[in-house]
Order: sequence, then structure tokens, then C-alpha cells
Amino acid sequence: MKKIINEMKVRLPSHSENEAVARTVVSAFSALIDPTVEELSDLRCAVSEAVTNCIVHAYRDLPEGEFGYIYISLRLYDNREITVEISDNGCGIEDIKRAREPFFTTSESDERCGMGFLVMESFTDRVSVKSKVGKGTSVLLRKIFSPHTSEEE
Ligand SMILES: Nc1ncnc2c1ncn2[C@@H]1O[C@H](COP(=O)(O)OP(=O)(O)OP(=O)(O)O)[C@@H](O)[C@H]1O
Ligand SMILES: [Mg+2]
Repeated sequence: MKKIINEMKVRLPSHSENEAVARTVVSAFSALIDPTVEELSDLRCAVSEAVTNCIVHAYRDLPEGEFGYIYISLRLYDNREITVEISDNGCGIEDIKRAREPFFTTSESDERCGMGFLVMESFTDRVSVKSKVGKGTSVLLRKIFSPHTSEEE
């Protein structure tokens, strides 16, 4: 049975600058098991997509100037596995299967192209999504870092 070797919880307001804060938190937390630059960059990218979704979509119905919270829960296991759960108390997703399809977006902005979930899937080992309309969404990212070898140092 794998064991948890470290854990951390962070709560951030859904302000756009907190996307960068979330990436930095994930880097600092992962440093303990010394991932490769590529592995870390992949994880940061996946986290960035999930956090951006909370910022852009979850609280879209709130009045101008109001914000919600993004909850990030990190866990590191003794098999070099990391889990990052990113959740919100926002509007929720009506049809998760459809939302995960490439190019599906509910946004009318040119900036969004419906690729966020695909990026999360490509850059991690598993993506699980739970959501309830009106209650919020939770995205669990799981990644196993490669075994550490001395040649890489
Ligand atoms: N946390 C969330 N809360 C509410 N809806 C969400 C959330 N995350 C994703 N969604 C819904 O799922 C859809 C697909 O998300 P995805 O990240 O794949 O694409 P996108 O955010 O629309 O575009 P892109 O990520 O390419 O900028 C979104 O358009 C939105 O409707
Ligand atoms: Mg997105």
C-alpha cells in the first residue's frame, strides 16, 4: 500500500493572478521528490488549466467584483505519485462527458477553445472530474514521476 509522505491545502480567491500562484505552489510542493524539468512543466500546465477553469467558468455568474474560492489539495505518496485536487463552489458542469470532449466550450470568448481537459489528460496519468450543478466542481489530477536516477542530476 502506498503511503502519503506529504500533504498541503491551499485556498485562493478566484482572481486571475492566482493561476500563477497555484503553479508556483505545485512546483514548491513537488520539489521534495525532485521531478525532471519536463515532468514538472507538464504538471504545472495541467494545474494551470484546472485553476483557469475555476477562474473563468466556475464563478462566471457572480456579480462584477465578487469572487469565489479555489481549493487546492496536494498529496505526495512514497511511490513518487502526486495528486492535485482542484475544486470550487461554483456553477458546476451540466454534462461532464461533453465538457471533456476536445473543442467543447461554453465560452463565447475567442480566448477559449475547449482544450483545457485535453491538456490535463495529456500531461498527467489520470484526470477524474466530479461536479454538481449549482454546487461546484472537483478535478483530481494524478501523476507518477519517473524513478530517480543519479545520471539525471
Ligand atoms: N470548474 C468549472 N466550473 C464550471 N464549468 C467548468 C469548469 N471547468 C470546465 N467547465 C466547463 O467545461 C468546458 C470545457 O472546459 P475546457 O477547459 O476543456 O475548455 P475551455 O475552458 O472552454 O477552453 P480552454 O481551456 O481551451 O481555454 C468549459 O467551457 C466549461 O463549460
Ligand atoms: Mg479551460
